[in-house]
This record gives sequence, structure tokens and C-alpha cells, in this order.
Amino acid sequence: MARPRNDNFLRALLRQPTDHTPIWMMRQAGRYLPEYRALRRRAGGFLDLCRNPALACEVTLQPLARYDLDAAIIFSDILTVPDAMGLGLYFSEGEGPRFERPLREERDILRLTVPDPYDRLRYVTDAIAQVRRALGDRVPLIGFAGSPYTLACYMVEGASGSDYRHIKTLLYARPDLLHHLLAVTSEAVTACLNAQIEAGAQALMLFDTWGGSLSTAAYRAFSLAYLQRIIAGLKCEQKDGRVPVIVFTKGGGLWLEDIAACGCDAVSLDWTIDLGEARRRVGDKVALQGNLDPNVLFAPPAVVAAEAIKVLDCYGAGHTGHVFNLGHGISQYTPPENIAVLVETVHAYRRKPLLSENKAGNPAGNPAGHPEMA
Ligand code: CP3
Repeated sequence: MARPRNDNFLRALLRQPTDHTPIWMMRQAGRYLPEYRALRRRAGGFLDLCRNPALACEVTLQPLARYDLDAAIIFSDILTVPDAMGLGLYFSEGEGPRFERPLREERDILRLTVPDPYDRLRYVTDAIAQVRRALGDRVPLIGFAGSPYTLACYMVEGASGSDYRHIKTLLYARPDLLHHLLAVTSEAVTACLNAQIEAGAQALMLFDTWGGSLSTAAYRAFSLAYLQRIIAGLKCEQKDGRVPVIVFTKGGGLWLEDIAACGCDAVSLDWTIDLGEARRRVGDKVALQGNLDPNVLFAPPAVVAAEAIKVLDCYGAGHTGHVFNLGHGISQYTPPENIAVLVETVHAYRRKPLLSENKAGNPAGNPAGHPEMA
């Protein structure tokens, strides 16, 4: 399948020139949109949306109907992989995700096997194929998975919002068992991502939400090593070009150079790091994605625009390789109007002028000093 007409997102990930700074948002489909809440109500619940390819396709496209976003991300969840491994995922109202059978005993960990993604996760690949057909050649589609360490946190704790007591006990008391769990989970994630590529995903993102809770040594051994192993096992070289891989470790700014060396094409950053400093630290090794604090979106539109421009200025003119995003997922309390302001501001700031504008008194054709123009 050919590259999309608007391939600015893929170009930025590969550090190639773009027409404007591309933008998409983590959790861009979700509860802040009234049309999402209405569809979820009709479907029954969040997992009913994930497991029905037609509904997952509809939800994936909802934010693109409202905003001029440069990428779509398949509507699903990182916890579908442990669910396919037999842990029994469910969501209880107001409590977030839970597993019926968390991993607490050695024998449960040793019994884990790698699920066949074409069987147990067929609803994900079917949804990807359906979204690709619906998108036509508009924008690229992102596939994703959780990092093995982040998945292990949920698999061992059994719920979110805990103090990591069980996973950290395992890490320090039985590192051999945790390594076994991470190795099996890495294989499951690799198979699931390769199936997503085959189904039509044009870029991939690995979410390492809890890697930032580790010590530096533990991060390298229990999180980054497995991200590296997964990326090495991905079939990213496709006939239409490379399927770029983005790694997001929340709180990973300390380890930026290490992350940039793990084989990924881009590093996604939370809002705690200065984007210009991050760019200087990685040089031309990888592209960077980020990194507006999602809480900025609670402020009035003029503040949203000003804060977005601060992020763009931090990255700086004259450099390729920036994908604008939030530093973490969008909050359910975000006013949808502010997203329109954000997308318009980012697109307008360093847009490559149209030919007609060039003729109309801008011979240089580059009023904002756009660096990335081909
Ligand atoms: O970005 C997108 O629009 C794609 C869809 C997507 C979801 N979850 C949908 C979702 C993606 C990429 C994820 C990733 C995910 N899921 C992560 C990593 C990123 C991050 O946010 O740190 C994690 C840790 C999960 C696990 C998970 N799923 C949690 C902790 C929760 C509950 C907390 C919350 O924000 O609601 C979910 C539920 C979930 N996943 C929702 C959505 C839209 C909300 C479900 C609902 O109530 O409708």
C-alpha cells in the first residue's frame, strides 16, 4: 500500500523535511469527546469498543473528523496482550484496568506462553485493516503496544494506582523470575507488533509508562533491554519504506541518550524535559516527539496557543525531526475546542507557504524561516 498523501508525520520521524510540524495526541480518541462517550454507552463499555473492529474503527476516526491531525492511532489498549496471555482483563467503573488472575505465584509466571496474535488478538489486526481502508491515503496509522516492564507492572500488581510493591519485590527478590516474565512478554509484544505491521500499521509506538519508576540500573536491565530486543525483532523494512518506531518512557528524560541508542527512530518525551536541550543531547540520532504538558489544555485558548509556541521555539527553527504531541495522554476533562486551537497553532507556526503566497510578495518563500522545507 502506498504512502499517505499527508506523510509529514512519517517524514518527521525519519528526520526528513516536512511542510509543517506534524501533530497528533496520545489518547486522541477518548472520553473528552462527547461522540466517544455516546458510542461507548451504546457498545456497553470500553472493552466492547476495543473488541469490535467496526466500532474501534469508528472511534479511531472520531478525532480526525474534528481536527486536522497528521496521524491516526488505532483504538485499542496495551493490556490486550496480557489479556490474550490469559490474565482476564476487565474494567470496573472509576477504578481503571484490573486482571482477574494477576501473577503472584512462581508457577503462574513459569506457565505463561506466547499467544498467537492472529487468533487471540485478531480484533486488533482486523481493526487496523479496516481503519487503513477507511483512511484511504489521508494520514498514516500508528500501531502500538506496551513495554514489557509496564505490562509486567499491571500483570503482577493486578491493578493500576498501586505502589509497585509486588513488582518491585519480584525485581529485587526474584530477578530471575521477572526476567522470565519479561522475556515471554517481549516475544508476545514482538509477535503482536509484527502482526500490526502486516495488517497495515505505518508507524509503531511502545508505551513504557512505568519505566520511569525504576533506578537507572534497573531501568537498563528490566525495561530498556527488552525494548531493544523487541525493536530488533520487528519487520520494519517494508516495500513502501521504513515503519518507524517511537519509544515513550514516561519520566525517562534522565536516560535520553540510552533510549536514543535502543534502535528506535524517535523518542517521545514527557513535559519535564526542555525539548531544545533534548534535541542537543540526541543530535541527529533520533527524532523527538512531544512534549506539551496536557494540563495546559485546561487554560484559555490564548494560553494554549502561547504554550504550544513555547514548545515549538524550544525545539527551534532549522531542525528536522519534531513531531508535536502531549507529554502524556489527553485528560478526559479537556475542552474539545482547545484541541482545535492547538492543532491550528502548531500547523500555522512553521508552515511551508503555498506557491501562490510565494508569488504574492515573498520571494524567499520562507517567512517563518522554516527549516524543514524541501
Ligand atoms: O491514544 C489513543 O487514542 C489510542 C488508544 C489507547 C488507549 N490506551 C485507550 C484507552 C492507548 C495508546 C492506550 C495506552 C495505554 N493503556 C497505556 C500507556 C499510555 C499511558 O496512558 O500511560 C496504559 C498505561 C494503558 C492502561 C490503561 N487503559 C489505563 C491505566 C486505563 C485507565 C485510565 C484511563 O486513563 O482511563 C485504560 C483505559 C483506557 N485506554 C481508556 C482509553 C480511551 C479509557 C477507557 C474509558 O473509560 O472509556
